Amino acid sequence: MAMTPLDLESDKSLYEQVADRLENLIYEGTLKPGDRLPSVRKLREQLSVSISTVLEAYRVLEDRGMICARPQSGYYVRQTALQQPQEPATTDPPKRVYDIDNSLTFRLMHAIQDPKILKLGAAVPVAEHLPLTALNRLMGQVLRQHSAKAHSYDAPPGCIELRREVAKRMLTAGCSINPDQIVTTNGTFEAVYLSLRAVTQPGDTVAIESPTYYGLLEALEMLHLKVLELPTHPRDGLSLDDLETAMQRQQITACVLVSNFSNPLGTCMGDAKKKQLADLLERYDMPLIEDDIYGDLYFEGNRPKAIKAFDRSGRVLYCASCSKTLSPGMRVGWAIAGRYQAKVEQLKWVLNQTTAIAPQLTLAAFLANGGYDRHLRQLRRKYQMQTAQMTQAICDYFPAETKVTRPNGGHVLWLELPPEFDSIQLYEEALAQNISIAPGVIFSASSGYRNCFRLNCSLPWTDDVEQAMRTIGYLAKKQLAVTMLSQPF
Ligand SMILES: Cc1ncc(COP(=O)(O)O)c(C=O)c1O
Repeated sequence: MAMTPLDLESDKSLYEQVADRLENLIYEGTLKPGDRLPSVRKLREQLSVSISTVLEAYRVLEDRGMICARPQSGYYVRQTALQQPQEPATTDPPKRVYDIDNSLTFRLMHAIQDPKILKLGAAVPVAEHLPLTALNRLMGQVLRQHSAKAHSYDAPPGCIELRREVAKRMLTAGCSINPDQIVTTNGTFEAVYLSLRAVTQPGDTVAIESPTYYGLLEALEMLHLKVLELPTHPRDGLSLDDLETAMQRQQITACVLVSNFSNPLGTCMGDAKKKQLADLLERYDMPLIEDDIYGDLYFEGNRPKAIKAFDRSGRVLYCASCSKTLSPGMRVGWAIAGRYQAKVEQLKWVLNQTTAIAPQLTLAAFLANGGYDRHLRQLRRKYQMQTAQMTQAICDYFPAETKVTRPNGGHVLWLELPPEFDSIQLYEEALAQNISIAPGVIFSASSGYRNCFRLNCSLPWTDDVEQAMRTIGYLAKKQLAVTMLSQPF
């Protein structure tokens, strides 16, 4: 198995280049399921790299689900490595700073409010999966017990009952937090918005993942901020090498990312990378706004840690909520803003004084009585199964060239079709059949990703959903066929 030398000038680290090459060999069929990979020593000699580079490359491939280690024997290509569609590669956004214009997002996402539309484009939990009876009962009790308090003014940092419960839960994300370090907000969006306001001035440049959650682009536009989009791997997340290079070359005021099971790529950085990022922030004295709204929705093992768990200097402003797990409508979230806490509390006070008391007390009671963990166990199982069902439907009904992410948590999939594909055309055609998708262009300030789109896996798998997937797959195949036929021979 001959390999050409690695590119020492590349923006990518050596271990990422090694991992990508081996992954390509698997997809091309040079390495087949069940084959043993070259020994660490042999590959090291062949590529003239260190043992740790090869080991790190093998770790990356294990994380991507491509290979597994057998004790005393070596590394092998997993039998299941090729059963799923190919994954999109690390993204490659233009290396320039953009102003943001969200007018297209506004038009596209507001066209789908009609209740008869099957919302495969929105990343929202559906009522069937939420413990609404328990929540409504608890809210009734809260209103009876705190009839006056529930209607009074409060002040930041918000209800202590909720902050105590959030502090306890943060232990599962590897963070030892005092309730005084938390301010409650109207959802994650407000937590991110306040954090951005605390650390930036209009005109500043913020580094973000690419593609990124379009709500973040809306907040950045509202605050007159510019963005630098960074290459992002669908599993490993944002490229730290690119982040560091950007920080050396230009003024980057802050970085914002979704740390666990991001939207839309589903990325989840490993602990080593999270620590590396926290060290980088310290070295360059830069704040990071960490959106961890999907962290509780892991499919296997334990809850992934927050980047905040590795933050020794208070530079991480951690933001989360119960919107994706319990109730988007209660609008309860929180920020743990480290050294910026006082500023965030002051901004919250000026913006809207406080978060409504009854939803905060209801969530506190739900977290305290143990209902949350039981509910989460069921929800995670459902999301894992529905994500697998959607992936299978993509294999069955979509063009063979479709690439799709393989998230280990959350509830969205990101699909990439050949470069000539137009997901806005697909959006319009699917909408005419009362189905929504989220076209790729709304996830970037650079108008990229026109050949990509996001699908939501939070809907229970029904005949209607399967039929909708068949329809989208048919529309995508038809569009590709017409495009190919219209190309010159
Ligand atoms: C990554 C991300 N952050 C924040 C939000 C908004 O969260 P909330 O409803 O808690 O404000 C969403 C909703 O889709 C999201 O996907």
